[in-house]
Parts: sequence; C-alpha cells; structure tokens
Amino acid sequence: MHRDFLKTSDWSTDQLNNLLESAIRSKSVANPARPLAGKSVALVFFNPSLRTRASMQVGTYELGGNAVVLEPGGTSWTLEHREGVVMDSDKTEHVAEFVRVLGRYCVAVGVRTFAALKDWKEERTDPILNAFAKYSDVPIVNLESAMHHPCQSMADMMTIREQRGSGRKKVLLTWAWHPKPLPMAVPNSFALAAAQMGHDLMVAHPKGYELDEALMEEIGRQAKSAGGCVTVQHDVDGAFDDVEVVYAKSWGSKNFYGAAEKEIAEREQYRGEWIVDAARMARTNDAIFMHCLPVRRNVIVTDEVIDSASSVVIDEAENRLHVQKAILQKLIRE
Ligand code: CP
Repeated sequence: MHRDFLKTSDWSTDQLNNLLESAIRSKSVANPARPLAGKSVALVFFNPSLRTRASMQVGTYELGGNAVVLEPGGTSWTLEHREGVVMDSDKTEHVAEFVRVLGRYCVAVGVRTFAALKDWKEERTDPILNAFAKYSDVPIVNLESAMHHPCQSMADMMTIREQRGSGRKKVLLTWAWHPKPLPMAVPNSFALAAAQMGHDLMVAHPKGYELDEALMEEIGRQAKSAGGCVTVQHDVDGAFDDVEVVYAKSWGSKNFYGAAEKEIAEREQYRGEWIVDAARMARTNDAIFMHCLPVRRNVIVTDEVIDSASSVVIDEAENRLHVQKAILQKLIRE
C-alpha cells in the first residue's frame, strides 16, 4: 500500500501542519538529507508549467534523486484514461500500462492535468488524476488537476505562516476579471487548505461564479472542525475590509462551462471592476498580497500592488520547492 497526495482533505490538519513545519525547517538547512539518492521521480505534464515543473525537478535533485519529465502527446505517447474504451481513435497508450510501467522505474509519479473546461459534471470528478491513482503502484502527487492544486495551496499556507505567523488569520480569496475563463483548481485548493488551517476565510466573487457546491460544503465542515469560518461576499470593496491576506485568482463560471465565448461576453461587465488595486489594499489590515502566478499585470492586480512591499508572490513561488520536498519525503517514507 502507498499514500497519494491528491487533495489536502485526504490528509488531516495535523498531518498538513507536520508537512508545513517540515518544509519551514528544511528551508533553512544548508545540507539536507538525500533520501532520493539513486531513485527517480516521474513528472507527467499534460499542460504547460514554469513553477511546478522547475520546483519539482529542482526539489527531486536536491533530495538526491533524478526527475523524468514526460509530456503525453509530445515527448511520450498520447494517453487514454477511460475504462473499457475501444482505443481505435487518437490515443496510443492507456494510463493502466503507462503508470504501472513508470512505477517500475520511479518511486513516485507527479501529474498535471488541467480541466479542459468542456464538461463540468465529468471534470469535477477529476477523471484523469483518479485513473493515475487507481492504477499506480507508487505514490501519485497532484501537480494540478481539474479540481485541485494541493502543492500550490500548501505553499500558500506556508507563506501565510511565514509572513503573518501561525494561528487564525482573516483571509480573503477574491475572484478577479480575466479575459477568458480559467480552471477552478487553485481557488478550490486555497479555500480548502485555508479552512483546514482554521483561518477565517472570505470568498468574494460576482454572483454566478460560485465554487462547486459539494466542495463548499466540505470547506464549511473543515473550517468548523478547525475552529475557523467561511463567508461568501459579492461586494468587491467591502470584501477587503480588515483582512490580513488577499489572495487573488480568476476562475470560470460553472453556468457557462463548455461555452467560453458566452462567458467571455458575460464577464466583460467585471473588467476593471474586479481587480486588486492600492485603494482596495488600503482597506485591509496591512494585508499581504498573494497570487499563485502566472498573473496578468493590470488585469488581475495593478503594478502598484504586485510591486509593493505587501506582495509576497515570489516567496510564495519559492515555497513550492520546500513544501513539495516535504511531501515527497513523506510519501516515500510511508
Ligand atoms: N502556480 C503554478 O502552478 O505555476 P505553473 O503553472 O507555472 O506551474
């Protein structure tokens, strides 16, 4: 048996705290242990990446190991994930063989597989990630799926702890206008992890941009159990009042899923309205500004804010390296 890292809610708050403490400790160690010496980790990217790919490759190297990067349909065969399908179309290999073969070479497999933004009912079940988890004989690390980006949210929680100390904080997750609909994995995972850490979470978005209903129920349960709370706000200015953390992200509407052109027209009304600017940051309790990156400047956030002393986006990106090293070490020890 092995353990996967697919979403933070598969792990308890205590277990997540242990990972965060391990990442914070190892960040300041000059000569860390090399538990991956002589071992390899496979990194499977269906989609582009800067931070995730570079930090996983560097992290594996720093732990003494070797990273094997594969891009299905590019540097490796096109992949099928559905059960019982007659593979007479464009897919060459099934995940069932692909991931078990990798398990004979590697001690863990990371996979990035974004939402296609076509079929909400299907994509909310994370079918490709779950096919990897189903067939793998070694731990699977979710490097961003249709619904979750747990490595990002762990780096986010680490950054909040470093910047503002441990304990309950007033945290705002705010939707922002973007020219096209984007997946929900980052806001889903940020909200879930913030709830698990017991923060007071406010989710601000225009009406019609609700996160998944079942996930919001889970977030509510997690917050209650960890001593925090969750509120939803539709007033973009009021949302900033007195918060200690501002986390900006754009995402698509479930109401227009699979109909990008219609949504692009619908969201135009929020252009220049749902943006993080200095006036809104001035309403906060000296909040830090966070974003997972990549970010569109002067669309999601103004230059003035992202270039200010409040912005911690580069530290946040650095922390991807440290939390992922802690996660990899934990998974290969289990
Ligand atoms: N934040 C994040 O996952 O960045 P990349 O898409 O560049 O990996």
